[in-house]
Amino acid sequence: MLTEQQTRQFHEEGYLFLPETFSPAEVAILKSEADQIYSQQRPEVWREKSGAPRTAFAAHLYNEAHGLLARHPLMIRPVEQLFGEQVYMHQYKINAKASFTGDVWQWHQDYGTWARDDGMPEPRAMNIAVFLDEVMPINGPLMLVPRSHTNGVLAAQHDTSTTSYPLWTLDEPTVTRIVETGGIVAPTGKPGGLLLFHGNLVHGSAGNITPYPRKIVYLTLNAVSNYIRKPTRAEWIAHTDFAPIIPTDEGALARYAQTFQQAAE
Ligand code: SIN
Ligand code: MN
Repeated sequence: MLTEQQTRQFHEEGYLFLPETFSPAEVAILKSEADQIYSQQRPEVWREKSGAPRTAFAAHLYNEAHGLLARHPLMIRPVEQLFGEQVYMHQYKINAKASFTGDVWQWHQDYGTWARDDGMPEPRAMNIAVFLDEVMPINGPLMLVPRSHTNGVLAAQHDTSTTSYPLWTLDEPTVTRIVETGGIVAPTGKPGGLLLFHGNLVHGSAGNITPYPRKIVYLTLNAVSNYIRKPTRAEWIAHTDFAPIIPTDEGALARYAQTFQQAAE
């Protein structure tokens, strides 16, 4: 459960970062499974223009370890607490930001896309992310504009050309104005860090030209009453199974990681 101070910080700043929250064993299994998923040729695995993996969608539905993260109480409970109701999985993605070739994510707000493309009524969905690699200042960390969630939905353009992934992005004057008041932060740290941020928080990330990959897995959890009304995207990008998530017990992913480790020995 989030403390009162953490809850206040989330509401004021629009994000909350809890370093080293998942154990090394839990992260190790999620990370090795992510690499195995990226090696598959399937529509859910989206690639950069270079061919390197960009993101793998819906891995919680075809991979057991990621299925357990998708129901991990450390992921589900804080979001239930902030929304005051049960949540379902709107989107699940493992972003690669591959070494040398990981491409940018232009400045955007996620709720802008959920509202325009999915018909989501309110910004009562949010991302909760886990670092699978070390996130450093140099390998394309996620950059956030603190307090920018208080601006509502900003005007955006549909960018279908800059990267391989279509996105509603913000223009330079808008980002300049918002950053003048909020500044920019980039939470960094060891694998296992947990980051949650408001659906209207402005964020983006630069390319990765270092030898260090920067994998982050993002769950987008939506309040059940806020289910999407007009889906236009593939089911595996914006899910239409609105059943509330029933969390596992605290140790389920750790036990699975241990069994996996023993089988490999
Ligand atoms: C996103 O905004 O959805 C992803 C950005 C990133 O992983 O760098
Ligand atoms: Mn985003």
